[in-house]
Formats: sequence, structure tokens, C-alpha cells
Amino acid sequence: MREQNFGTYRVSAIGFGTADFGGKHPEGLARELMDAYVSIGGNFIDTARVYGDFVTPRNGESEKIVGRWMTERGNRDRIFLSTKGGHPPFTDLHHSRLSPEEIRGDMAESLEDLQTDHVEIYWLHRDDERRPVGGIMETLQELVEKGYTRMVGVSNWKPERIREANAYAEAHGLVRLAANQPQFSLARQHFFLDSTTRGMDEETWKMHAETGMICCCFTSQAHGYFNRLDKSGEAALTENLRREFDSPENRKILERIRTVQEETHLSVGSIALAWLTSQPFPTFPLAGASRPEHVEALREAGEAVLTECQRDFLRRMDGR
Ligand SMILES: NC(=O)c1ccc[n+]([C@@H]2O[C@H](COP(=O)([O-])OP(=O)(O)OC[C@H]3O[C@@H](n4cnc5c(N)ncnc54)[C@H](OP(=O)(O)O)[C@@H]3O)[C@@H](O)[C@H]2O)c1
Repeated sequence: MREQNFGTYRVSAIGFGTADFGGKHPEGLARELMDAYVSIGGNFIDTARVYGDFVTPRNGESEKIVGRWMTERGNRDRIFLSTKGGHPPFTDLHHSRLSPEEIRGDMAESLEDLQTDHVEIYWLHRDDERRPVGGIMETLQELVEKGYTRMVGVSNWKPERIREANAYAEAHGLVRLAANQPQFSLARQHFFLDSTTRGMDEETWKMHAETGMICCCFTSQAHGYFNRLDKSGEAALTENLRREFDSPENRKILERIRTVQEETHLSVGSIALAWLTSQPFPTFPLAGASRPEHVEALREAGEAVLTECQRDFLRRMDGR
């Protein structure tokens, strides 16, 4: 799989997501999927304090599985490890958990469950706009100074808050946010089951294009929307896929994907991911999988390149 710069690291073009580990995906399957990802040359694993069980919820299930797998495989030093904290409780998604104590506590628990002394990037999973960015950036600085993380980023934050946070960091000589983690896929997501998540809107895209800030995007394959529609038609769409992604706009995009396929001979899924990796700023799609074949499909996607012309034919993000 192709690699590109992420700070001072060389990181796989497509990261691997572990949100279902310990919940929908039992440990055996999770390990099989991570082994498959590493076997195609992947080194970027994304997890979070809250991943694993969104129902009960039990904290750290995904991190514990990733931690045990890295220890057994002895591959920690070859993995670009990404985790997140500061997520509100699932019973009250608007309850802020971004105090210094909460962030420090989440970080410590993550390191323990991941069986490591640091991660490569640590993300704040949600924002609380009532809390000034200054205090948050001071806490993130502390995590870097203590060596718990090399870089910091935010997920589901508004672009104006990201700009404000980095302006504060600049003015106070603190570590800047290295990356942003929004939802972003070739299929436009029309509906979010969790209203506290944020998609790549025009303003966020402009911020990335202007600043060159790294984007690591989730639900990057639109949960397989194009793959399913292309292969098996409308009947293959689940209720959630219909609600989140099915629209005349996205169906038109599938037609364009088929045109690009004639030129590139790439699979539908590879074109959808290559559209992301061809953005004018560094973009690392985070892909999930429920079967080893899904991971195998990332082998081609991780090498695929589109021309600017093909990218813009599929969907333009610059408003032109
Ligand atoms: N920061 C955040 O707030 C946030 C939010 C969500 C996710 N994330 C991160 O991003 C990662 C990826 O997110 P995601 O799982 O939503 O992304 P995704 O890659 O869009 O969805 C993964 C799902 O798509 C389906 N799929 C994958 N490959 C396929 C293929 N070749 N053909 C058909 N279907 C295929 C599978 O679903 P089925 O087989 O089950 O249909 C798979 O479980 C997560 O694991 C997590 O690390 C972050």
C-alpha cells in the first residue's frame, strides 16, 4: 500500500478502523481483519476509548483488542497508532467531557489498554463549544510534553473552532492540531444517526484546502453504499444505508464511477477511496470491514490514483 507523510511519519494511504471491535466484531474476527490489513502493507490503526460496545457501553473494548494483538504480534513499533478520548457518555451526547482531568484520565486508560507508553496521534472525539479553546490546547500540550502522544487532532469539530485552536497554539507557542477527523466520502451523507458527528462541509473543505491540514476521514466507504448498489442493486441497501446515503445525487455519482471505471479498470470501491486520496490536501480514509475480503479490496484502493479531471468529474468540492 502507498504511504505518505503524516508529520514525520510515513503512513499508509488508507487507515484501518476498529470501531466495531469488541462489539459487533468478536476478538477472533478483529484479529483476522488486522492481520489481513497488515498483510496488504497497512500500518495505520485507528481506535478510540469508546469503541467496541455502543450499547452497554463498556469502555476500551476495541483498545484492549488492539493492545493484545500488538503485544502478541510484537509489531507496536511498526504501527501508526491513533486513538481518541473526551467522548461524551452515550446516554447524553451533549454532556461535555473535555475538562483537563477527563482528558488526562482518558489518555491514561487508553495507554493502559493499548499496552503502550504513547500513541502517534491523540484525538478529541467531540467538541464542547462552551469551553474556550485555550484551556483545551493547554491540556493537549501537556499530553505531548509528557510523551503520551506525538501529535494531536480533533474529530467532529467546526472549522472555525479548529482555526481558533491553532491560532491560540500559534500565539502561545503550543503544539498545533495536526489533523482533523470528519465524516467524508464520495457519497454525500445526508443523514447522521448521531447528530454530534460532523461531515466534510464546504467550509471545512476550504479550511483544509487553504491550510493543507491533514484529514483522516471516517465512514469513508459510505458503509459500502456504492459497492452494494453496483453489485446487487437497490434491494441490497439496508435501512440505514437508505437513510444515510441513498439519494438521486449519489446514484448519479455511481453512474460517473462506472464511466471512470472504463478508463481506469479499478473497482467501484477503489474509485470511491481514490477520490478521497486524490483531494488537494493530505487525506487518509479510515476504512472499516466486516470480512477479510473487504480488507483485501483495500490492496487495490491503497495504490489507486485518479487524475484531477477524474476526481472533479466524480464530485467537485470547491463549489465550482
Ligand atoms: N471520529 C469519529 O467520530 C468516527 C465515527 C465513525 C467511525 N470512525 C472511525 O472510522 C472507521 C471507519 O468507519 P466506518 O466503519 O463507518 O467506515 P466504512 O469503511 O464506510 O464502513 C465500513 C463498513 O462498510 C462495509 N464494507 C466495507 N468494505 C466493503 C466492501 N468492499 N463491499 C461492501 N461493503 C463493504 C462493511 O459493512 P457491512 O459488511 O456490515 O455491511 C463495513 O463494516 C471506524 O472504524 C473508526 O475507526 C470515527
